[in-house]
Amino acid sequence: MSHIYVTRKIPEKGIALLTEAGHEVTVSEKDGVLTKEELITALQGRPYDAILCLLTDKIDGDVMDATDAKIFANYAVGYDNIDLNAAKERGVTVTNTPGVLTETVAEYAFSLMLAVAKRIPEADRFTRAGKYEGWAPELLLGSDLKGKTLGILGAGRIGFGVAEKAYRGLGMRIIYNDIKQNEFFDKDLNATYKEDIDELFAGADVISVHVPLLPATTHLVNGVRLAMMKKTAYLINTSRGPVVDEKALVEALKTNQIAGVGLDVYEDEPVLAEGLQDLENVTLTPHIASASVETRGKMSEIAAQNIIAFLTGDTPENVVS
Ligand code: GLV
Ligand code: GLV
Repeated sequence: MSHIYVTRKIPEKGIALLTEAGHEVTVSEKDGVLTKEELITALQGRPYDAILCLLTDKIDGDVMDATDAKIFANYAVGYDNIDLNAAKERGVTVTNTPGVLTETVAEYAFSLMLAVAKRIPEADRFTRAGKYEGWAPELLLGSDLKGKTLGILGAGRIGFGVAEKAYRGLGMRIIYNDIKQNEFFDKDLNATYKEDIDELFAGADVISVHVPLLPATTHLVNGVRLAMMKKTAYLINTSRGPVVDEKALVEALKTNQIAGVGLDVYEDEPVLAEGLQDLENVTLTPHIASASVETRGKMSEIAAQNIIAFLTGDTPENVVS
């Protein structure tokens, strides 16, 4: 029997898998993110064989040194919260939960695009505030998306899912940028590869961000590129906050350089850049793109399966290190 530490309460399915496999599971009782000190203390509390951690846990060398566990199974597709070099140096395996959340996040990014273009959250605020005094020809005019161009930044699975919905469902034209061309985009979605990222910024009516957070993608969406966008364009970000220079974004919105944004992630979560929440043309949600009942349950199962495989001596399905 092995002993597993889970850094925060997650859907029960994954915990059940671990206990059914004969392992003992300790779940942090704190209702919130453990501080680094709390996490280290918890890991030192007793010998653990595996750690199930969340994207809100910063897993660096100090944290890895606090335990003999040689696997950190991240409950997320993104793993920018884990220092992979430190893991490599220590022979620590890192896993993530890709695949299951692809469609959920793609549906969410697609919804955010529609919400922003049709100004749904703004209209809801307006109506609730008692400002609706009767139908009016020019009340809260939004944009149509049919025939418009969607620029996908990061041509992975999630980006493909969003592009597919936009192409088939809305009749949008797809352009995309990534480090390399993607034949699925080209063949299935009749998409155009923009090797030069600036062409994507200049040409899109909506840009949806789907790159992982890396040194090379930090502030990929900066003031200069925001200024290249059409004044009528929208930006949607469901990947990681630091990919967008949030201060520059607030400036671009205030000066009407772009028409609106939908954000599910922030540069310094959970803190918002100054002025962001005072703007009308932004839709802000609290990092919930993968938060469907189905997917959050499956993510817990996948994280658990990665741990079970590792403890059995097999290679887990989703090793990232
Ligand atoms: C969520 O942001 C994830 O990476 O799973
Ligand atoms: C994530 O799963 C991606 O490839 O976009």
